[in-house]
Parts: sequence; structure tokens; C-alpha cells
Amino acid sequence: MQDDQYEAPLYTSLLKYLKNGYAHLHLPAHRQGQAISALWKGLEQDLFKIDLTELPGLDNLTSPSGSIARAQSLAARLYGAKRTFFLVNGTSVGLQALLMALCRPGEKIIIPRDSHRSVLAGLVLSGADPVYLVSSVAEEFGIPEGPGEAQVSEALDACGEAKGVLTTYPNYYGIAADLKKLAEIVHRAGRPLVADEAHAAHFPFHPSLPEGGLSCGADASVMSMHKMGGSLTQSSLLHLQGEFFDPGDVAAALAFLQTSSPSYPLLVSLDLARHMLAEKGRVLLEGAVQKAVQVRESAGKIPGLKVLDSRHLRKGYSLDPTRITISGAGLGLSGFQLSAMLYRKYGVNVEMADFTNIVVVIGVGATEEDCVRLVDGLKEISLERQPVARPLCTPPGPPALPPRQLTPRQAWFSGKRKVPLEHCSGLVCGEWVAVYPPGIPVVYPGEEFTPEIVEYLKWVKASGAPVAGPADPELRTVRVIE
Ligand SMILES: Cc1ncc(COP(=O)(O)O)c(C=O)c1O
Repeated sequence: MQDDQYEAPLYTSLLKYLKNGYAHLHLPAHRQGQAISALWKGLEQDLFKIDLTELPGLDNLTSPSGSIARAQSLAARLYGAKRTFFLVNGTSVGLQALLMALCRPGEKIIIPRDSHRSVLAGLVLSGADPVYLVSSVAEEFGIPEGPGEAQVSEALDACGEAKGVLTTYPNYYGIAADLKKLAEIVHRAGRPLVADEAHAAHFPFHPSLPEGGLSCGADASVMSMHKMGGSLTQSSLLHLQGEFFDPGDVAAALAFLQTSSPSYPLLVSLDLARHMLAEKGRVLLEGAVQKAVQVRESAGKIPGLKVLDSRHLRKGYSLDPTRITISGAGLGLSGFQLSAMLYRKYGVNVEMADFTNIVVVIGVGATEEDCVRLVDGLKEISLERQPVARPLCTPPGPPALPPRQLTPRQAWFSGKRKVPLEHCSGLVCGEWVAVYPPGIPVVYPGEEFTPEIVEYLKWVKASGAPVAGPADPELRTVRVIE
């Protein structure tokens, strides 16, 4: 073996990372197994032993009739679904399968402009033609609230032929629209409502959290159990209720999109996370909510910091209290800077940062010590920064929606060429460009680069904010349709 083949760089970096003893205020919520089902304890050391396949007695994910079928039906009962599917490629694959089950090429679907990128992949796969819902913004924090009743009603009125509405519930900041009202509006139009509940697996288990998507009336919901529900990364649940979706269509799309070698450790972790939530979800979430309330109170009293709460949102919106958005703008710090200071000096890792804010997640496995380290770090940063704080320049708002020339699918499969960003005004975009986080696409494949978009992207490029989607993430060039 060549000398360098003795290295295992990823494994080594993980070991090194673990030795550093960071505070983990981010996903996944089990926090390295702090909150896992007691049943899992015996298996913790045995990852390789349970890495099995469709052997006698172990059932088959694509046509389950034994233990997987039973585990799925227990999950369905816990969440109040008619049918639940275990997923091994995250919520991403569930959303894509639902879009494929719902739409044929050219058929309209109403989605938020700031849908997750997996929805774009679903549009390309299904050929669906998106009609966008543009979200209002919580001004003081510069973050999207997600589309509300007015936007959904208007879109349905304007596009009667749409096959359904897909919405994100809640968004990355934990902001949840009034889903019950949205479901009423969508059902009145005779259409199904799909809820992207990637961040909502914990909602049904504590009264301080927004109501779960299925009990609000969503016809289909996909949730990342691995984010807030305590299972392993990549494992998600897809739920159906009512008659809008044919489970056979959804199963066929999933069999088409998912791996033919589903990981048993992931499937087992879904089974055990469901067990844990059924057994002690309420108690675990009570702990998380209490810790989050304390962090909110303490951080809100620190000079120069502002904490997002429901008073900052428009009527009808609610907030997941376990997700805390903190703006350091009063200290002259961008979210990126605040997050970097917390990490470098205090060993605190947060879930995400944007121009203005950081977001921390207090999940079922969060520890008291992690929360104390965060608050202590924030206090020290405030003391240091107050005397030197300069007002933070406000980032420009995202540009208006550009004219659309092609559907995402048509654009995806068209010939493309690269042009310098400065020269792309008036050309049709061949990729998607989202500024991360929060990842609202500035331009979708098939849309025109307007002068306003080019100026905005030049600003993004100069600011160094992370960009997702383009082949050249430095934005020196963009791909346009030939
Ligand atoms: C709103 C939203 N939807 C969908 C997804 C995709 O979920 P997953 O990572 O489970 O595929 C994410 C992931 O971050 C998300 O934030």
C-alpha cells in the first residue's frame, strides 16, 4: 500500500473534532446520542452487526410485509397518518416522490419561492411547472416568515389548474404559518396540501410547539426524523392521510428514487426514535423547551442582542420555541461573525448563521452545559463589542422575481454555456443560484438574469456570503442557456 493510503482523513478529523468537546446547539437533535431510546443502548457498539440486508425475517423496504411494515404502521399511528413510509434519503427524497406522484410534465404546482432545493430537484424530475408564493419578511431580523393565507388564496385564484400546494412548515427559523387555515383554503379549492415538515418531527409531542402538520389537515407530510426526532442523519418519514394521494403511486416513486440497498441502521434508528418519542417525547421536549426558554430570556437581556419571538411575526404565525434566532446587529456583528466568534473562542457550534442572525437549536439531547456556554459566550462578546460597535450595514433585499422563459426541467436539460456574471443580464439562467442561508433562490433554471439580479449577485460575491447551486460557487461565471 502506498504510504498515504494508511490515512483515513475523514475518520481522523471526526476523532479530532470529538476530542475538542464543543457545545452542540445544532442538528441532529439527539446530540451525539444524549437522547436515544433505551432500546438503542444495547446496539450502540454494534453498528456493523446490524448493517444487514433483506435477509429472512428482516423484511424489505420496497415491498414491506413483516417487521418494516409493522414499524411503519406504528409510526403512522403515532403521527395520526393513514400510511407512513420510512425514507433513507432524507426528506429530500420524500418531497421529490410526492411531486412525481402529483404532477406530470407541464402541470402547475404552487410552492414557496424559498422551498428547499430538493423541491427544485422534484420539479426537474416531475416536469412540474412552479407558481411561486413570495414570503413576507420579519423586518427586524431580515428573515422570511413563509407564505401565509393571502398569498396561498391569491395563487389558487390566479392558477385554478394547479395540482396542489406545497408549503414549508416551519421554515429554518422555526416560523410556522397557520397551517390549519392554509389547509382549509387549499381544500376549498379541491386541491391537496403537502407540508414540508423537515423541521417538525417533534411538534405533536409538546403543547408549547406549533400543532403537527397532519392534525392541521395536510394531506401529505415529510419530516426529517433525523433533524428534530432523534434518529440518524438521512432517515425521514413520509406520511399520507385522506384520499388525495394514492399510496401506490408514492411507493412506486420512492422505489424509483431511493437506493435499492437501504441501510438497516438508518431504518432501525427510525423505529427507535418513534419508540422514544412515544415513550418519553413529552418529557424530553419539556426539558428542551425549558432550556430554550431560559436561553431566550438570558440572551434577550444581553446588551446589543435581539432574540426573535412571536411578537416580531405577523398575526397568524407561530414560532418553535426550541429554535432561537439571535441578531447581533446591535453589536455591529453579522450572523457569520457572531457564529465564528462563538466557535473560535467559546467552542460553541450553532445551527446556522446569516447576514444578521445566528440560529441555535435546543433539541431533545441538548445539555444544560451547552446552553450555559452559549449564554456566557454571548455575554462576553457583548462586553467586548459594545464599546467598539458600529452599525451593521443592512444587506440589500432579494431582487424581484425575474421573468420565466422555461420550466426548471426544460432548462435543466437544455444546452448551457458559461458567461462572466457581469455579462449575463438578459440571458436565461441554466442553474439555480441561492444565497445560503437561508437559501432563497435568487434565480431558478429557466429564469432571466435581470440587471437587478446581476447587481445583487455582485454584492453577494463581494460580501463573501455562501452561495449554493451554481457550478462556480465563487460566481465568477454563471451557466446560461445556449
Ligand atoms: C425546509 C427543508 N426541507 C427539506 C429539507 C431536506 O431534508 P433532508 O436533509 O432530510 O433531506 C431541508 C434540509 O435542511 C429543509 O431545511
